[in-house]
Amino acid sequence: MTEATTHDPVSNLSPTMLEGHVAFITGGGSGINLGIARAFARCGAKVAICGRTEERLEAAAEELRGLGAEVAFQAADVRDAEALQASVDHAVSQLGDISIAVAGAAGNFYAQAEKMSSNAFRTVVDIDLMGAYHTARATFPSLKKTRGSILFITAGQAFKAMKYQAHVGAAKAGIEMLMKDLALEWGPHGIRSNSLVPGPVEGTEGMARLAGDTGDEMWKKAVPLGRYASTAEMGAMAAVLSGPLGAYVTGSQYMVDGGTGLVSTTHISDAVEKSLFAQE
Ligand code: COA
Ligand code: NAP
Repeated sequence: MTEATTHDPVSNLSPTMLEGHVAFITGGGSGINLGIARAFARCGAKVAICGRTEERLEAAAEELRGLGAEVAFQAADVRDAEALQASVDHAVSQLGDISIAVAGAAGNFYAQAEKMSSNAFRTVVDIDLMGAYHTARATFPSLKKTRGSILFITAGQAFKAMKYQAHVGAAKAGIEMLMKDLALEWGPHGIRSNSLVPGPVEGTEGMARLAGDTGDEMWKKAVPLGRYASTAEMGAMAAVLSGPLGAYVTGSQYMVDGGTGLVSTTHISDAVEKSLFAQE
């Protein structure tokens, strides 16, 4: 067990903090987004999750029900606006109007900008940026009724250039601006719009993809706090931002990254280059 996994930040939040709230979380079947779903469930919210894989959603729903939450899910690809709308409609019919939306679904892989196909670049932009827009649009009628909140899960690549992540940086930076535009446009409806920017998080698919070839230690050393975060730490911050504690917070980017955004990660890109692209 590491410092990150033994620490239970959600236990510091009230178990009734999100009572009466209905959350809809894309990508909620795994990783950071499941950590957010767990935190919401432990704070008393009803939780709907969405992703492409039925079995993954079923397993996550079972776990969330074990935490005492009412749970709904319907699989959808966030690139498909109609399917996502159907998943949102299903959630509303089962749990009630959504008051907290989380756009967390994403795709990532290392690829050289000049060599990846147009479809490879487009795929990440479609999942991350278009998926985030589809999530915002599909949940808007509910959020307007509930004067709710939308939280976008972005990444440091939105702010800090990183080799072999051009597609990811472009998509996540686009989401950051979408977040701000919606804060302005939907503020008069009482809807809040913010982003959470995780640093490297332990045990996630994202870090398996980013650190798989170079090892975790190099990444941990690049974090001023010297360790990976836990999914629970992301969940706790998401609950704070999405619930009553965040009532006056909108248009804001929350770096929950252990300070990673402040330091250079060029040596990591160099190691990735050596490991993945040295022969090319
Ligand atoms: N390097 C270069 N190109 C790649 C690639 C890689 N490692 N992985 C996929 N691609 C390309 C494919 O070749 C394809 O392009 P093409 O049609 O020109 O050949 C394009 O990307 C789409 O790939 P495909 O596998 O059809 O996409 P998908 O929609 O099934 O899956 C991904 C989307 C590729 C993002 C997949 O990795 C995924 O599902 N990821 C979700 C989980 C994840 O990434 N988690 C971490 C979040 S931080
Ligand atoms: P993850 O477990 O792979 O999370 C991605 C989720 O999105 C999965 O549940 C996946 O489920 C779903 N998804 C992917 N493509 C989808 C699509 N087209 N339609 C619907 N759902 C889709 O990875 P993670 O590492 O926890 O990442 C979660 C979020 O945190 C992402 O936004 C990522 O960019 C961000 N982030 C992660 C880190 C990190 O350290 N891991 C750091 C910074 C930011 P299916 O495959 O079943 O669809």
